[in-house]
Amino acid sequence: MVREPPNSNYQITVWDLPTRVFHWALVLSLAGSWITHELGLAWMEWHMRLGYLALTLIIFRLAWGLVGPRYARFSQFLAAPGPTLRYLSLWLRGKPPAAAGHSPIGGWAVIAMLVVVAVQAVSGLFNSDEILYSGPWHAAAPTALTDRMEALHASNFNLLLTLIALHLGVMVKYWMRWRRNLVGPMLTGSMPAALAGGDKAVSSQRIVLAVILLAASAASVWLIVAAAPVPDPDDFF
Ligand code: HEM
Ligand code: HEM
Repeated sequence: MVREPPNSNYQITVWDLPTRVFHWALVLSLAGSWITHELGLAWMEWHMRLGYLALTLIIFRLAWGLVGPRYARFSQFLAAPGPTLRYLSLWLRGKPPAAAGHSPIGGWAVIAMLVVVAVQAVSGLFNSDEILYSGPWHAAAPTALTDRMEALHASNFNLLLTLIALHLGVMVKYWMRWRRNLVGPMLTGSMPAALAGGDKAVSSQRIVLAVILLAASAASVWLIVAAAPVPDPDDFF
C-alpha cells in the first residue's frame, strides 16, 4: 500500500515525460518553422524539416491520447458540453476548482491546437514558393488544390498565432489572479498535491511505449514524404 507523506507540500507527478517532451519539442518545431521562413530561401529546407517534425509530434500525440498515462488521455480530459460550460462559468466567476491535468476548457484548447498545427503541416506538404522550394506533394496535386493549400498555409498561421497568444494569456491569468503556476508542472512533471484537488498521481510514464510510438510516427511522416511522386524537371522551367 502506498502511504501519503505527512505534510501537505509533497509533489505528485501529473505530466509524464513523453507528454512534456512532446510539448517542448512542439514549441521548438513551430518557433523554428516560423524563424526559418523569416530567414528566407536559404533556410527553406530547414523550414520543411521542422514542419515534418511538427507533423510527427502531432501523430505521436494523437496516439498518446489513446494509450498514454492518465492525464495524457483524451478520455480523461475531454469533457461533455455541460461540465465544460460549468467550468467556464466558475472560471469567469473567479473560482476554477483545483485539479490535476487539463481543465475542461484546457482540454478543448489542446484539441484546437493539435488540429491547427496539423492543418499547418499538411497544407505545407502542398505549398510552394514557386521558385525553388515545394512541399513534396505540390507537383502531384491539381492546381485548384495547391492554390487552396497555399492560402490555407498562410491564413491558418494567423489562427495558430492567435491560439498561442490565448494559451500564453491563460497561463499568465492563472498566475496573476490565482497564483497557480501551470508552467512548472509542464517542465518538471509534478505539482503540489494540495493543488490537485484530491486527484491521483500517474503511476507509470510508459517511456518504452512512447519511444515505439514516436518511431512509428516519424516513419509514417517519412512514408508520406517518400511516397510523393518525383516532379518532372520540365515543371520548373
Ligand atoms: C507546421 C509547421 C509550419 C509552420 C509554422 C509554417 C509556417 C509558414 C509560414 C508562416 C509561411 C509563410 C506563408 C505566407 O505568408 O505565404 C510558410 C510558407 C511556406 N511553407 Fe511552411 N510552415 C510549416 C510547415 C511546413 C511544411 C511541413 C512544409 C513543406 C514540407 C512547408 C512549406 C512551406 C513553403 C513551400 C512555403 C512557401 C514559402 C514562400 O512562398 O515564401 N511548411 N510556412
Ligand atoms: C508554440 C507555442 C505553443 C504551443 C503550440 C503549445 C501547445 C500546447 C499543447 C498542445 C498543450 C497540451 C499538452 C498535452 O496535453 O499534450 C499545451 C499545454 C501547456 N502548455 Fe503549451 N504550447 C506552446 C507554448 C507554451 C509556452 C511558451 C508555455 C510556457 C510559458 C506553455 C505552457 C503550457 C502549459 C503550462 C501547459 C499545460 C496546461 C494545463 O495545465 O492544462 N506552452 N501547450
